[in-house]
Amino acid sequence: MANSFSFSMATCRKNLLSTIMIMLGLLITISRHSTVAEVGVCYGRLGSNLPCPEAVVALYKQNNITKMRLYDPDPPTLRALGGSGIELLVGIPEADLPDLAQCQCHANDWVHAKIASYPNVKFRYIAVGNEVNTSSMYAPLVFPAMQHIYNALCEAGLESHIAVSTSIKTDLLEKSSPPSDGVFKSSVSWYIKPIVEFLRDTNAPLLANVYPYFAYMNDMENINLSFALLQPNSGVVLGCVYYDNLFYAIVDAVYSAMEKILAPSSSGSSTTAASAATKPTPKLTVSESGHSTPPKPPPKPQRVGDGDINTVENARIYNNNLMRIVKKGTPKRPGAPIETYIFAMFDEDLKPGPEYERHFGIFLPDGQPKYPLRFY
Ligand SMILES: *[C@@H]1O[C@H](CO)[C@@H](O)[C@H](O)[C@H]1NC(C)=O
Ligand SMILES: *[C@@H]1O[C@H](CO)[C@@H](O)[C@H](O)[C@H]1NC(C)=O
Ligand SMILES: *[C@@H]1O[C@H](CO)[C@@H](O)[C@H](O)[C@H]1NC(C)=O
Repeated sequence: MANSFSFSMATCRKNLLSTIMIMLGLLITISRHSTVAEVGVCYGRLGSNLPCPEAVVALYKQNNITKMRLYDPDPPTLRALGGSGIELLVGIPEADLPDLAQCQCHANDWVHAKIASYPNVKFRYIAVGNEVNTSSMYAPLVFPAMQHIYNALCEAGLESHIAVSTSIKTDLLEKSSPPSDGVFKSSVSWYIKPIVEFLRDTNAPLLANVYPYFAYMNDMENINLSFALLQPNSGVVLGCVYYDNLFYAIVDAVYSAMEKILAPSSSGSSTTAASAATKPTPKLTVSESGHSTPPKPPPKPQRVGDGDINTVENARIYNNNLMRIVKKGTPKRPGAPIETYIFAMFDEDLKPGPEYERHFGIFLPDGQPKYPLRFY
């Protein structure tokens, strides 16, 4: 156990007290991650028509939404969150990675300015990068930036409250079906392996954006719509395991991929082997999931199976089913609720990309729900 903390011990205060604090931190971290079950909502801010942060925080509270994902440490939003009790997953945008990866001093400054300066905000996770393209110049910066942010949290005495992670896209997987065959692409091993080892050693979850919506759109011929919308259905047997929804299948594929990359046989380092024997595979937190709707209300009511998945009714069905199924565990992690963030609070008209990217919102800018969805 002490071995696996060697990288943090190098930078955290090297005395007995600090060791005890880390051990206590580990215990707190374990309890933190085993009690969370609520569903949060992503507050994407790329909209020209969005309410002010105070109104957004009020809307979260009115609807009993207790967790927020925010993509950057926007000061007005952090001020509005102060004292709200809302737990926060805050992101670090790619543009900040070069500085943070280059020098511990920049990470110390960042933690001081963006985290420690807001003692009334309940920070829970820092996501270092979101869906970073592994072919981009930012990819090699993610892991060193994560280490520096973690060390800075240690310096500030905050590492037991706030987990450091990164948010991945599931296209890092080479194979995802059956879920037991889930494996990362060998071309991204250099990227993901040190990250998953770091998460294991700091007892932090991997964040993954999980979209049955896109999986279905890419393979409509082979995927049943009820299975993709998480509706009660007859299910399928995948690799001898029964699955009744596509969300569980994707989550378990990521678990399988993490297990494989942490397996001692695939490792060259002895510390990895020692840690693998004593420490569990990181948990998965779903940092985004959701369903788009058409740009304008459709002319007539549409039903499941009408052909086009992109309907208000399908979005309502998907997100309501998601609320229900994440309370339970997947076949690989039975009984373990899956902390999940619905994407997103509002439509974002300034988002680039295909039209559907701009219509994942669950609320209209005036605070009215786009369709009924109850948080509980
Ligand atoms: C929020 O929770 C309170 C207390 O449990 C409940 O009375 C209220 O109806 C809930 N609001 C919504 C929008 O679900
Ligand atoms: C990832 O980055 C590479 C290199 O810059 C680029 O060619 C590729 O299109 C990018 N992929 C995506 C999905 O943006
Ligand atoms: C999808 O599954 C549902 C429920 O099991 C079933 O009623 C329906 O016929 C299936 N649809 C297709 C296209 O196979």
